[in-house]
Amino acid sequence: MDSQSSHSEPNIQKFATSSTQPLVLKINQLTKRYGKLTAVNRLNLEVKRGSIYGILGPNGSGKTTTLGMLLGVLNSDEGSFRWFGEAPDKQQRKRIGAILETPNFYPYLNAERNLKIIADIKGAPHSRIDIVLKRVGLLERKQDRFKTYSLGMKQRLAIAAALLNEPEVLVLDEPTNGLDPQGIAEIRQLIKSIAEEGVTILLASHLLDEVEKVCTDVAVLKFGKLLFAGKVDQISGDKESTLIELKADDNEALKSALSDFPAIRGVNSNGHLVEIIIDGTTDGKAINQFLFEKGIVLSHLNLKSMSLEQNFLELTSN
Ligand SMILES: Nc1ncnc2c1ncn2[C@@H]1O[C@H](COP(=O)(O)OP(=O)(O)O)[C@@H](O)[C@H]1O
Ligand SMILES: [Mg+2]
Repeated sequence: MDSQSSHSEPNIQKFATSSTQPLVLKINQLTKRYGKLTAVNRLNLEVKRGSIYGILGPNGSGKTTTLGMLLGVLNSDEGSFRWFGEAPDKQQRKRIGAILETPNFYPYLNAERNLKIIADIKGAPHSRIDIVLKRVGLLERKQDRFKTYSLGMKQRLAIAAALLNEPEVLVLDEPTNGLDPQGIAEIRQLIKSIAEEGVTILLASHLLDEVEKVCTDVAVLKFGKLLFAGKVDQISGDKESTLIELKADDNEALKSALSDFPAIRGVNSNGHLVEIIIDGTTDGKAINQFLFEKGIVLSHLNLKSMSLEQNFLELTSN
């Protein structure tokens, strides 16, 4: 699964965030098939250090499958990914804390005992136990049996377990599923405060609201395909935006020329087309002229006005 793909060109470029921050994760054409179903379809993503990266999509869009591959639980069929710029290996896995599903805590043991068992498995020192329990607000409850915990407390203990190895990255799959409103708020606050300490977060969610409240960056998946990747603060709210489909003889040259176009928010390759998203509205003439002056002649141009918020809501309400 760590075989390197020959596709070295990423599909997605995020000019809005194209700083030199190092990448924690780079996914290249990652694909997973179950028989005829393509659960994850040529996915490209880049996660920068320090971001809270949301993978947003309706149920069945391939979020859990993606995280499973990234964590080495599932084999991919095509493509590759790199954590910390390296091909996957066991050592590197220690730098990543993850909750794909609630860990099997022992119901009759208290939180501290449960974490001791996990710390031993993970090779984390016991001195970390109180630190992580304090971190998730469970230090005072550490002598209580797991089975007496509320769902929110159980989830916080799962996060504590994931933090035992002092990971650089925390991967969470639907972290607030099944929780009551207070538990949801607590978990979201906890995720943000962990990120403030410099831990990069990768979070899968089917809730637009959650991604907007918690995340700095978002990738939208549907049927395993990436629809959009960009900064959350630029896509939330009711701000109108325009999606423009373009095609030129040389789409790579087209994409690089576009990086200077005013109010551009994201660029995405979609088959033979280049899709861009512009803040507010623009007309075809402006972009055609802009590109022409840079020596690029378009063979296709199609404007689609939209509110991304609306688009997300449609996408995620199922
Ligand atoms: N083990 C499996 N066997 C067959 N199909 C699967 C399996 N796991 C997931 N799928 C399918 O892959 C698609 C993506 O699933 P999943 O990654 O769980 O989506 P999400 O986490 O976004 O809800 C779905 O259509 C799902 O039914
Ligand atoms: Mg899932």
